[in-house]
Amino acid sequence: MKSIQTSLSRVFHNGNIVCFEFDLEATSPVNSGQYVMAHRVGDFLPTPLFPSGMTGLYFTSATPIDSPWQPGDLFRLRYPLGKGFTIQKKTPSRLLMVSGTENPLRLLPAAGMVLADQGAVAFFGYHQPDDLPVEIEVLTRDQLSEALTWADCVIGDTSYENLAVWNGLVRDSMSGSTYDIQVLVDTPMVCMGMAECGVCAVKTRHGWKHACVDGPVFPLAELDV
Ligand code: FES
Repeated sequence: MKSIQTSLSRVFHNGNIVCFEFDLEATSPVNSGQYVMAHRVGDFLPTPLFPSGMTGLYFTSATPIDSPWQPGDLFRLRYPLGKGFTIQKKTPSRLLMVSGTENPLRLLPAAGMVLADQGAVAFFGYHQPDDLPVEIEVLTRDQLSEALTWADCVIGDTSYENLAVWNGLVRDSMSGSTYDIQVLVDTPMVCMGMAECGVCAVKTRHGWKHACVDGPVFPLAELDV
């Protein structure tokens, strides 16, 4: 695990989501679905931030925040934290993203990877990011069932409270097929990924797990929904 000090270089919006760019190298320091703990110098608590956008080079929080952070602010970043999405290397790959949160931007680094490998990507969600690349097909609710048959990889995001709803949405649209579905589960994460406080507990078929270290991306089949 790395811990570096760097500065915030840019703050911008994508819809109602605040996006942060740090002074980093030209590749994302974490994989899609993993996170960094961003601690502004002088603040009491750090904030978990996820790589976002097609390149994963900017970061967003799980839910929209009203941030006082300004370009030039100094941060300590700890990364990589947690387990992210595993995208099987297939050419061409057919990736379906099903978003159940206000921030589908966190799914896009996986889409960027698949498109770079000449794969195809489709998206369903009630909150659509601004500037979604034209290569990504945006689906309606009615098209979801067919897309689940088409996809060879399904990823998504949801709050823990809405996990059952998200699961119902996906399973209702499946026609008996089984997929390696992976879902990013949003929980509070306050102890800097140390698995000490327990607020991120997620119930699985193998007992309670900590989203901050065992997730936040879990195989759907593992979750006790
Ligand atoms: S955030 Fe504290 S145990 Fe996971």
